[in-house]
Amino acid sequence: MKHLVPEFEKLRERFPAGFESSLALPCLRRIQEDRGYVADSDIEELAVFLGVPQIQIEEVLSFYTQFRRKPIGRWHLQFCHNVSCSMNGAENVLAHVERRLGIKPGQTTPDGRYTLSTVECLGSCGTAPMMMVNDGYHENLTLAKLDELLQGLK
Ligand code: FES
Repeated sequence: MKHLVPEFEKLRERFPAGFESSLALPCLRRIQEDRGYVADSDIEELAVFLGVPQIQIEEVLSFYTQFRRKPIGRWHLQFCHNVSCSMNGAENVLAHVERRLGIKPGQTTPDGRYTLSTVECLGSCGTAPMMMVNDGYHENLTLAKLDELLQGLK
């Protein structure tokens, strides 16, 4: 995390004095973008940088599900399995990907390329079923679309 401190210092300038703890969220996002996940050492160093107790950083991490605490695959496939997606075949598309990749939600392929997750509503119910691949949305999924998508993930 230390190499990100100059960026965090610039961020700090945009926050009023006394609101340093509000920096935790953008700093954690940047750490995850840089490393792929938030390590224990990042929590310790960020707590020192912000001058807050470590538990405050851990609370933020446990509240926001988009933060990861361990390494994941290069491609993170997050399938929504909430009501609209479920009613439009989410289980079917997920099962298809499970078969193709040979992993279940919560697992990463042995080559480290793909991590599969199920998540709650991603706010795209009108285009269900849908999933995210890293930061991108993929909507109105069909098995053929999934096959094409997986083919393009190098
Ligand atoms: S239920 Fe899947 S995006 Fe809302």
